[in-house]
Amino acid sequence: MVPKIDILTLFPEMFEGFLNTSIIKRALDNKLVEINIHNFREYSLDKHKKVDDYPYGGGAGMVLMCEPIFNAIETLRRDNTKVIMLTPSGKTFNQKMALEFSKLEHIILLCGHYEGFDERIKTIVDMEVSIGDYVLTGGEIPAMAIVDSLTRLIPGVISSESLVNESWNDNIVDYPNYTRPEEFRGMKVPEVLLSGHHKNISEFRDFERKRLTEKSNMMNLEEVDNEK
Ligand code: ADE
Repeated sequence: MVPKIDILTLFPEMFEGFLNTSIIKRALDNKLVEINIHNFREYSLDKHKKVDDYPYGGGAGMVLMCEPIFNAIETLRRDNTKVIMLTPSGKTFNQKMALEFSKLEHIILLCGHYEGFDERIKTIVDMEVSIGDYVLTGGEIPAMAIVDSLTRLIPGVISSESLVNESWNDNIVDYPNYTRPEEFRGMKVPEVLLSGHHKNISEFRDFERKRLTEKSNMMNLEEVDNEK
């Protein structure tokens, strides 16, 4: 089974660099994942290909209309499809979700723009996802973040060894890495890493993972405190 991802957007050109670079490009070339970009404007039945309109009740901006998005999803959806709406009010994305998504047969990612979606579009999606508590101009960057993180977890895309100790598996971060030179501007590589003593190296890395995880969790807590 090759996971298939359909992305619905009004700005397909935003994905060009993303799909044609590095690991994502290689995964596509090796047919380990299939990614299709669709402009949902093409699913508008309006003669001017209209996709948005003024909000009922007044207010700023334009709202994405139901019809083009319902048409696009109904055309692309199959039996095992998960339809995901990208919205700042959705469930916050994390590594566990990336792993779950990497095992799905077919995903449709719906990218919004303007003031957002007509609320009724939520009735045709399976899940609403946010990549964090901040507002972007659209769902394209969130879609890229999600596709990037799930694609690298598809078996064969990167070496399985790279995935073992990385950050946020089991909610802990990766250990710190160093490469040559041994000393840079007075900063030395920890002695133990030069020792060739595997048990000590492994203990050092475990200790550092715990220390850096606590530090990362503390930094996030401090932010919450500041908001009080
Ligand atoms: N669209 C705009 N901001 C977003 C966010 N933070 N996550 C997902 N979709 C978005």
